[in-house]
Amino acid sequence: MPSNRAMETTPFAAMDVLEKAGKLDDIVHLEVGEPDFEPPAVATEAAIDSLSAGNVNYTHARGKESLRRAISEYYDRKYGVDVPLDRILVTPGSSPALLMVMLDVVDPGGEVVLTDPYYAPYPNFVRQAEGHTLTVPLSPDNGFQPQLQEFEAKMGSDTQGLLINSPANPTGAVMDATAIEGLVDLASQTDTHLISDEIYHGLDFDADAHSVLEYTDEAFVLDGVSKRYGMTGWRLGWIITPPEETAAMNRLVQNFLICAPNHVQDAAEAAIRDGDNLDDIRRTYRRRRDLLLDAVEDLGLEMGYTPAGAYYLLLDVSSLPGDSFTVADRLLEEAGVALTPGPDFGTQSEHTLRASFATSTEQIQEAIARLDAYLQH
Ligand SMILES: Cc1ncc(COP(=O)(O)O)c(C=O)c1O
Repeated sequence: MPSNRAMETTPFAAMDVLEKAGKLDDIVHLEVGEPDFEPPAVATEAAIDSLSAGNVNYTHARGKESLRRAISEYYDRKYGVDVPLDRILVTPGSSPALLMVMLDVVDPGGEVVLTDPYYAPYPNFVRQAEGHTLTVPLSPDNGFQPQLQEFEAKMGSDTQGLLINSPANPTGAVMDATAIEGLVDLASQTDTHLISDEIYHGLDFDADAHSVLEYTDEAFVLDGVSKRYGMTGWRLGWIITPPEETAAMNRLVQNFLICAPNHVQDAAEAAIRDGDNLDDIRRTYRRRRDLLLDAVEDLGLEMGYTPAGAYYLLLDVSSLPGDSFTVADRLLEEAGVALTPGPDFGTQSEHTLRASFATSTEQIQEAIARLDAYLQH
């Protein structure tokens, strides 16, 4: 019999839909958040060179110094902040990084406050540390921007973490600088850990995504190469830790992760050093967003907001018969379009489906044509 902890871990609907869709022919995939562009060629070359050079052993648990230097220089270049190498921990993807942070921050019974809609696995990470989550509801009416007072209202003596994500999955909202600064102050005044998932940084097209590191050293930042460099399957992420948490975090990473793959660390370094010029990618995503947004309005599924980053859009399916899971199943089986049911991302997205526009423009056009034909008959 699996443990209670395992039994309470909810499925990740996007992956479930992907699995279901994999058994059907001729499906347009808008369910997963996987960039369709190639990783930088220098990353592939660096991985091959690294393997050829025999870099197949464990590395330091913190990650190779040259990679950590590249990460530190990236923060200096992009945000003008100084991140010393000993505050950087390299991990096999940002997902295990999230787990390590929750194990560091949350005691049994502790609480983490996050916004709803949220990235579906967040509550599961908190649950593994025997904590639970409290949510601050967001609304499309103000572009899914969080209100500081609502965070304050949720916090109590058991609150150990505030978890934010901008640009956000599943809304694509980008938090404005004032909101981030307000949360930094709130976390500092209440002696609460601030955790910022910045995995979609660089993919902001209508508003600038700010790093919490611009306002404080006392925060955990999670990032990686998955989204920005189109390297999801390489499994490489990192954590910037507050100065006083580095030793404990290093112990967790040593025990549970050992290290990220040696040659992938070299590939990540090459990708990061290759530069931050993502203008073409950002332009492409913005065009696809506009294409999808216009179509969704014509189909009567719009939520009345415009994603400013990442590559997701929530569609309002409350006018269609059945709950979001039923609607997602029907659109998959009868229209051949795979979308993720919104309830996976919290109660605020209960009557929605999430569309990812990380796929090609042709595929998005095909999805729109199929949805149009299906919804009209
Ligand atoms: C908000 C958010 N955080 C973290 C991750 C996990 O990314 P990684 O590939 O680095 O594990 C994802 C992946 O979809 C995500 O959307």
